[in-house]
Amino acid sequence: MLRHGYLKSPVHWREVDRGDLHGLWIAEVDTSDPDIVVYYAHGGGFSMGSTYFYLEFLIVWLTLLKRAGFRRPAIFALEYTLVGTLPNDACYPTQLNQAIAGYEYVLSMVRDPSKICVGGDSAGATLILSLLLYLGKIGQEKHPRGAKESYMPSMAVLISPWTALTSSLYKNTRSDFLDVSNLDRYAHQYAGYDSTLSVTNHSVSIKDPLVSPGNCTSFSWWRHAAPSKGFFVAYGEEEVFAPEIQKFVGLLTKAGVVATTSRTKGGIHAWPVASLFLSQADEDRHRGLRGIVEETSNRMQNC
Ligand SMILES: *[C@@H]1O[C@H](CO)[C@@H](O)[C@H](O)[C@H]1NC(C)=O
Ligand SMILES: *[C@@H]1O[C@H](CO)[C@@H](O)[C@H](O)[C@H]1NC(C)=O
Repeated sequence: MLRHGYLKSPVHWREVDRGDLHGLWIAEVDTSDPDIVVYYAHGGGFSMGSTYFYLEFLIVWLTLLKRAGFRRPAIFALEYTLVGTLPNDACYPTQLNQAIAGYEYVLSMVRDPSKICVGGDSAGATLILSLLLYLGKIGQEKHPRGAKESYMPSMAVLISPWTALTSSLYKNTRSDFLDVSNLDRYAHQYAGYDSTLSVTNHSVSIKDPLVSPGNCTSFSWWRHAAPSKGFFVAYGEEEVFAPEIQKFVGLLTKAGVVATTSRTKGGIHAWPVASLFLSQADEDRHRGLRGIVEETSNRMQNC
């Protein structure tokens, strides 16, 4: 952030540390009455990244929400446990359980789920989709014939979501930096299949919808899992995930769920995040987030 000219933080943020729940609460002032909360999970193949790495991205997002007319926007970024070789590292289902705890925390802060927008990029989007499927499953069990539960969020913003952990559609592309064999390794590590890591769990199937949401093909489950105002999916035309993302959006649409996309021509993986580090002019650095905020504002401000 110093490199980008921030000498002090332009907004208020504080660490949330409650036993198994960690994260950053970001708001202009530390208000307990936000009119929108973005609940965000960062990407990084479940093995890299942190909320602090995304801090500038999140601050820009908050600032744009304010400019779009939200009066007291807030962001809660989840600091979930990574997969790796350190003693405290963990694999699935630890991250999903933390995502659930994070959602409960956000609900306790905002009280009204229609003010919640969930979001994530890449593996963070996987986690958000798993969370939605988890919430949807509870709803489906309670109301098998319809009636969505009122604790579902208003919308979901997915940036280059890693929908299915493994897929025959994943092929390296000329421009994208993602690599299919690395993805496969991260996928198996997250699902608990890598015995060189500190934790494994062989009771998890890598196509279980809660670990690999793109492998959920049940229309009814997706209808229960959908946020009330649907999904917004941003991705790049040239990224490894593009064919699988298109398939996923097609499935949601067939299920009757609102899922609109913004496909960047020639775009690569997670560009709305990466461009903040790689582009020069603010116009380019903020373009991806501006599109996201415009969509959020259209869906969540006119209610
Ligand atoms: C999961 O879904 C993907 C995409 O639809 C598919 O290619 C893959 O084979 C599925 N994985 C398993 C293990 O069924
Ligand atoms: C392994 O995964 C299963 C299924 O998600 C879970 O119930 C169990 O608690 C996990 N075991 C460990 C040691 O994390």
